[in-house]
Amino acid sequence: MRSAHVVRQDPEDPLAGLEVADLPQLEAPAGWVRVRVRAAALNHHDLWSLRGVGLSADRLPMILGTDAAGVTDDGREVIVHAVITSPGWTGEETLDPKRTLLSELHPGTLAEYVHVPVRNLVDKPAGWSFAEAACLPTAYLTAYRMLYGAAGLTPGQRVLIQGAGGGVATAAIVLARLGGIHVTVTSRDDAKLARARALGAHDAVASGTRIAPVDAVLETVGEATWAHSLRSLRPGGVIAVAGATSGPAPSADLNRVFFRSLRVIGTTMGTLAELAAVRDAMVAAGIRPVLDSVHDFTDDDAGTTAVRTAFSRLASGAAFGKVVLTR
Ligand SMILES: NC(=O)c1ccc[n+]([C@@H]2O[C@H](COP(=O)([O-])OP(=O)(O)OC[C@H]3O[C@@H](n4cnc5c(N)ncnc54)[C@H](OP(=O)(O)O)[C@@H]3O)[C@@H](O)[C@H]2O)c1
Repeated sequence: MRSAHVVRQDPEDPLAGLEVADLPQLEAPAGWVRVRVRAAALNHHDLWSLRGVGLSADRLPMILGTDAAGVTDDGREVIVHAVITSPGWTGEETLDPKRTLLSELHPGTLAEYVHVPVRNLVDKPAGWSFAEAACLPTAYLTAYRMLYGAAGLTPGQRVLIQGAGGGVATAAIVLARLGGIHVTVTSRDDAKLARARALGAHDAVASGTRIAPVDAVLETVGEATWAHSLRSLRPGGVIAVAGATSGPAPSADLNRVFFRSLRVIGTTMGTLAELAAVRDAMVAAGIRPVLDSVHDFTDDDAGTTAVRTAFSRLASGAAFGKVVLTR
């Protein structure tokens, strides 16, 4: 089974440990189903795995990929939910201390087939391509939960989204507009700012620019933008944080946090119900995920080149929206 997997981990050169080759297909655990992968979206999570963050070396080689849309053996067109809870867990999925994402413990989605628990499927919207549907499980689910769960935003409120071009950030722009929220974005790149405006951002400014106070900040960049995020909040405002691409240890600026009664709320992925909810909200509003590029993962040398090109695109930081592999 031709798959893209991590064979060794290198913090400085993540693509060095990316291999595309045939791995034997494992049996599905009892109660799991097989999905033929038609599209798989890349995420920064895949780069972390290649760097050795969040995936221990004793689990290599590991098939990468958290996100997929595909077809079950009985012909159902589905989106795969990436959050796998531990056996017997009945609480909120993301709070299971032993929960994993696909490609952390169980093989991921950058393969011909992926196995998931029966419950980890939602129907693909009929009018969407597999490439569009594959964008939802991580970026759109996370952005949806950041906006409406962690930050609890309501129509008319203001949000700041850091790092305009990212998969989560572009998802957040369209999902925030859907909820009637005023959107300000930052980027280090003028072209991305222009694209963010075209996508619906009300204000798009260079990273670090002083802005009118916002009710909430969506933070996935981390150290590079954290101080600006704290400075941009109104008293009582909230930072929803789901990532730290540029580094995990900014100054906390605790004086500002308590003096202005700020809240910092961490959040990761979301539940199956939230995945269905974000899908339904987008279908009802007639909006589609933002695709940066689609690459054809065929079972030949061209497919191997396509996988490497897609990963290079993600690692470059130049993408605007989701990088997707189809097959
Ligand atoms: N907790 C969760 O459930 C969850 C879910 C999804 C993602 N994440 C995490 O969230 C982060 C973003 O994920 P993603 O998939 O959206 O990644 P991505 O698509 O690779 O995001 C790239 C964006 O990050 C910004 N960025 C990167 N380095 C920066 C720096 N030094 N200074 C300023 N901006 C920088 C860039 O903004 P500009 O170039 O526009 O300035 C770029 O557009 C990752 O760390 C990921 O692991 C977490």
